[in-house]
Amino acid sequence: MLLPLRIRPATTEDCGFLWLWANDSVVRQNSFNMKPIGWLSHIHWFHKKLGEDAVYIVTDGAHDPIAVLRIDNEEVQPEISVTISAPWRGRGLGAQVIELGSTITDKRPILARIKPTNAASIKAFSKAGYKLMCTTEDITYMHLTNSSE
Ligand SMILES: CC(C)(COP(=O)(O)OP(=O)(O)OC[C@H]1O[C@@H](n2cnc3c(N)ncnc32)[C@H](O)[C@@H]1OP(=O)(O)O)[C@@H](O)C(=O)NCCC(=O)NCCS
Repeated sequence: MLLPLRIRPATTEDCGFLWLWANDSVVRQNSFNMKPIGWLSHIHWFHKKLGEDAVYIVTDGAHDPIAVLRIDNEEVQPEISVTISAPWRGRGLGAQVIELGSTITDKRPILARIKPTNAASIKAFSKAGYKLMCTTEDITYMHLTNSSE
């Protein structure tokens, strides 16, 4: 399924629904820190990330949020992470969202760290052009390089 997706920087108004998305059980299960996230710690974290221009919202044709992307550590080694909201998962949007998120920075390589158990994520990153670098018991490392590399 291909949708007319758009991407925009996150704003303070996105803080509330992003907290709910972050505490979704599948999202916590697929995160390296699996503990539930408290509201105050979310507010603190979110405003720090807004200051770093690290958070982006993907919207559908009606401008409703369907996914959040983060590009951390852009200055040194960009690292991407993605969450698609529960109702939109499993509909084949993963690669399209990741491709869109990979346009946020021109720097290459972009790194993705994924739990080896997260098959949907590994497949979606792979379809978006990310290549497997290596995998340990806890982390699968993938990266997007320039196509010539
Ligand atoms: C991981 C995530 C981005 C994938 O996006 P998605 O839109 O749900 O995935 P897609 O529908 O595009 O599916 C991608 C592939 O994974 C497969 N897949 C989907 N759900 C799956 C599941 N639960 N288990 C195994 N494979 C699965 C699909 O069949 C598809 O494979 P195919 O191309 O061979 O048909 C999304 O599920 C998500 O945000 N999950 C919660 C947060 C998360 O895990 N983020 C990533 C952290 S690194």
